[in-house]
Amino acid sequence: MEIFYEITPLKKKLAALKSQSKKIGFVATMGALHAGHISLVETSNRENDITVVSIFVNPTQFNNKEDLEKYPRNTEADIRLLEDNECDIVFIPSVEEMYPEEDTRVFELGSVAEVMEGKFRPGHFNGVCQIVSKLLDIISPDNAYFGQKDYQQIAVVKAMVKKYMPKFKGNIVPCPIKREADGLALSSRNSHLNPEQRKSAVLISKTLFKVKEMSDNGATQKEITDFVKKNIATDANLCLEYVEIADKDTLLPVEGNLPVNAVVCVTVFDGSTRLIDNILL
Ligand code: PAF
Repeated sequence: MEIFYEITPLKKKLAALKSQSKKIGFVATMGALHAGHISLVETSNRENDITVVSIFVNPTQFNNKEDLEKYPRNTEADIRLLEDNECDIVFIPSVEEMYPEEDTRVFELGSVAEVMEGKFRPGHFNGVCQIVSKLLDIISPDNAYFGQKDYQQIAVVKAMVKKYMPKFKGNIVPCPIKREADGLALSSRNSHLNPEQRKSAVLISKTLFKVKEMSDNGATQKEITDFVKKNIATDANLCLEYVEIADKDTLLPVEGNLPVNAVVCVTVFDGSTRLIDNILL
């Protein structure tokens, strides 16, 4: 496995690989890697000749300074994990390397970036678009893999690529959510939970699994959102920020009877840790 800290040598290496017609897969991460990230690496390994993983805690996507400072970092363990899982190239740039000057680009993507996380974390998706567009531009992968836990992020990245990167010919590939045995969606933020909060967190996925059952039995949008609010409120550690039932492509809210192509997204504070999860109906 080769490690790169700078853009120029990484680009040179990738150009040499591409000249040998090697297919490149890419997984963008902010480090603190877990089995969810590794499942993306495994998929990339299966579908490409070379897998590139980036580790970069992107400051422009944090709308809260404390959240950025608190974000878990463990680069040495990340490198070992990637080595053990047959990653070929790791890119670990500094903030100065990625942002030699302030990135003032504003991505206008309409409602897909304005609802849910867009509403509760203003500026978050603009920062995601800034960094993802830079990374896709540098690496120019054939396939870029993103986990569906960040369901809206995938829709935003797809919209950004379509509108702002017409020359990008790679695929944005969504990958299923990885869960712990008890259902909790894997997230770097889970490491912030104390044992009691970790126990409480299970109620989030349990609620979503029940929602799927309700929807299969014909429940309406209102019945489902009422149920989520009530169920999450039964645990004193949990505080629901939002529950939204949205069209799985446009992410616009769905009302009344549910179509099959909807996604239920929730954001829940478990103590001070903000957790997101979703389920496709
Ligand atoms: O999903 C993440 O970890 C980040 O938003 C990403 C895609 C690596 C961009 O910083």
